[in-house]
Amino acid sequence: MEFKRNIIITGGAGFIGSHVVRLFVNKYPDYRIINLDKLTYAGNLANLVDIENSPNYVFVKADICDYEKMTELMNTYNVDGIIHLAAESHVDRSIKDPFTFARTNVMGTLSLLQAAKVYWESLPERYEGKRFYHISTDEVYGALSLTNPAGDENGRGPYGPDFFFETTKYNPHSPYSASKAGSDHFVRAFHDTYGMPTIVTNCSNNYGPYQFPEKLIPLFINNIRHRKPLPVYGKGENVRDWLYVVDHARAIDLIFHEGKVAETYNIGGFNEWKNIDIIHVIIKTVDRLLGNPEGHSLDLITYVTDRMGHDLRYAIDSNKLKNELGWEPSLQFEEGIEKTVRWYLDNQEWMDNITSGEYEKYYESMYQGR
Ligand code: NAD
Ligand code: DAU
Repeated sequence: MEFKRNIIITGGAGFIGSHVVRLFVNKYPDYRIINLDKLTYAGNLANLVDIENSPNYVFVKADICDYEKMTELMNTYNVDGIIHLAAESHVDRSIKDPFTFARTNVMGTLSLLQAAKVYWESLPERYEGKRFYHISTDEVYGALSLTNPAGDENGRGPYGPDFFFETTKYNPHSPYSASKAGSDHFVRAFHDTYGMPTIVTNCSNNYGPYQFPEKLIPLFINNIRHRKPLPVYGKGENVRDWLYVVDHARAIDLIFHEGKVAETYNIGGFNEWKNIDIIHVIIKTVDRLLGNPEGHSLDLITYVTDRMGHDLRYAIDSNKLKNELGWEPSLQFEEGIEKTVRWYLDNQEWMDNITSGEYEKYYESMYQGR
């Protein structure tokens, strides 16, 4: 079958990538979707069982740092679009092992960019109809202050008057965000130097099904289920801006098709929460759905040593995306968190397959000494 488009989605076996792959495979039967993933500890093909036999879906196990392989794939599949999500994504791991982050996030992105450049420049139409879309994070902008710790009249965010805009100067603090900033710079440099049609988006914290349980929300849901301690870093005062993952995937679809080349778009939910408040919501929701009495799991809250260099507050202004392309989150947080908790409780086998064995040993070692 001749496909209208051939799109590589990198990191498609991960959390956000699997939602993007699912959306594209189902919505665009005339596109061939090539999921390119190394299957690191964070990659899991079980995230995609519902679409794995679709005629427009191909899975390729490969490392984005393997430049020859990237070149071969560009040619084999006549690739005209790349949506690049593959990355090392966990801040705590980057503090322990920054080299892996520089390798995958910086060198891997460069290898993919160069393979796309050489292939697209070899074609008669060159960059016409091509697109390299790089998925980045709000963490590259640094951290905002918590000037309004009491929140609004309902005790909710925003927790300060300032936000991250597309024009905010980069100021990354963790090895993770530094590596993402480096990759963003390379993507923009390929546009400015070679004319490659690139787009970069910077998104806030995602939550929803299929997130690896080292991240706050799935980790805490699972720990509550097993009556394990809930390790709250520092005082739990840090603020994050949470977006339901399917809304991020919708934004990626829209921007891939309608975003302007060389532009940056911020994606966020205008939905700021202090960690300790979100932890209370999770406890309440899990206890209710498990049939426990209200407050049953509050005793699991355990304050531990803070994350090194822990960014205090992230808050994205996504008005450019709303005003120019008409995107808005479709789910309110209360609805999204209910769906999310239900999903993890209903998919315990998915969780148990990840948390048993090697990962369990890693997790225990991460928390030793905290
Ligand atoms: P994830 O850790 O769940 O998934 C990453 C995927 O990339 C995994 O499937 C992994 O196997 C794959 N991968 C890692 N190294 C690779 C390599 N060298 N070659 C090929 N594949 C490789 O990550 P996520 O949370 O889904 O994040 C996806 C992207 O979105 C990342 O670029 C991240 O920086 C960005 N992002 C994440 C969030 C968030 O809240 N999770 C928010 C904003 C931006
Ligand atoms: O802002 C976007 C970023 O969000 C993405 O770029 C990253 O890939 C993604 O991992 C996420 O980074 P965070 O560091 O914000 O997410 P994490 O789930 O690790 O932590 C959320 C907050 O909860 C943070 O303030 C640290 C805190 N935390 C986290 C864990 C895992 C705890 O207090 N205890 C924990 O055990």
